[in-house]
Amino acid sequence: MQTAVRTLGLCKQYRGKAAVDHLDMQVSQGEIYGFIGANGAGKSTTFKLLAGLARPTAGQIELFGRPMETGTAARRVGILIEDAGLYGSMSARDNCLLKARLLGLDEETRAVDRVLAQVGLDKMGKKKAKHFSMGQRRRLGLALALVGSPDLLLLDEPTNGLDPEGIRDVRLLLQQLQSERGVTILVSSHILGELEKLATCYGIIREGRMVEQITAADLAARCRDYIAIKTSDPHRAAALLEERLHLHEYTVYPEGELRLYDAADPARVNAALLEGGVAVQSIGIHRQELEDYFLQRMGAEDHV
Ligand SMILES: Nc1ncnc2c1ncn2[C@@H]1O[C@H](COP(=O)(O)OP(=O)(O)OP(=O)(O)O)[C@@H](O)[C@H]1O
Ligand SMILES: [Mg+2]
Repeated sequence: MQTAVRTLGLCKQYRGKAAVDHLDMQVSQGEIYGFIGANGAGKSTTFKLLAGLARPTAGQIELFGRPMETGTAARRVGILIEDAGLYGSMSARDNCLLKARLLGLDEETRAVDRVLAQVGLDKMGKKKAKHFSMGQRRRLGLALALVGSPDLLLLDEPTNGLDPEGIRDVRLLLQQLQSERGVTILVSSHILGELEKLATCYGIIREGRMVEQITAADLAARCRDYIAIKTSDPHRAAALLEERLHLHEYTVYPEGELRLYDAADPARVNAALLEGGVAVQSIGIHRQELEDYFLQRMGAEDHV
């Protein structure tokens, strides 16, 4: 699959302080990439760099396999970031029409009306954007990002301030853009449960650096529930459970822990081990929530 976004050693410094610090990012075409990080980790700055709204201090950006030159990205990249590009004295429709003209689009009115309907702003009439509610402004920002049918969407907290219905609508819209048009979508959010419903892969950023990129499938596998067994002989315990209970998915840890990923009843596991003469110090089900996984890597414990 073609790579939609690749950065190599991407850096952005503000007054000598790194906001983005040698960031290596790779996103395949058609993915919905959940971009996760604590406040100040560098998500918005990364989006600005990718959209050509800020200039990197060092490093490279490739979009769709080509080096990005500032200014050339506009047509294929739609960005939603804070209130950028939004004119308060104009209506939603006029804001979108202006964007369409700036992109040099012909069929502008029809496309603009479709985009406004997609974000639920088709009934706003002449109301000026500065009088919009927070959620309505977000929706307008999203509409502006969608003008011109870009192949890459950079959405910085797109559901921030939206009501539950709006959040669901945005999710359905993004999924539709991905499945029908193969749009690549980078989306940041602090609502991990919401990203989880949407993202096909994740990037975790901490202090400007990429901590980990992981597909949703790998993450789900890693966060699977398991039975943790503490014993002095985990290898023997594993062999025994394979033989007696046909449990084959496990990992043995040197500290004497055996993790069983097959769904099994801990009581039966315990009984089988005792019968086989393996002394069990402790046994229990371990659940790792996705949230814990992210929080650990985001460095949240440092901020408490
Ligand atoms: N224009 C700027 N001038 C100076 N420092 C900046 C500027 N923009 C961002 N920074 C700094 O860069 C760092 C990263 O900021 P950024 O906005 O990218 O974080 P973020 O991950 O988007 O955080 P949040 O979750 O709060 O939106 C922060 O320390 C911030 O103070
Ligand atoms: Mg931000």
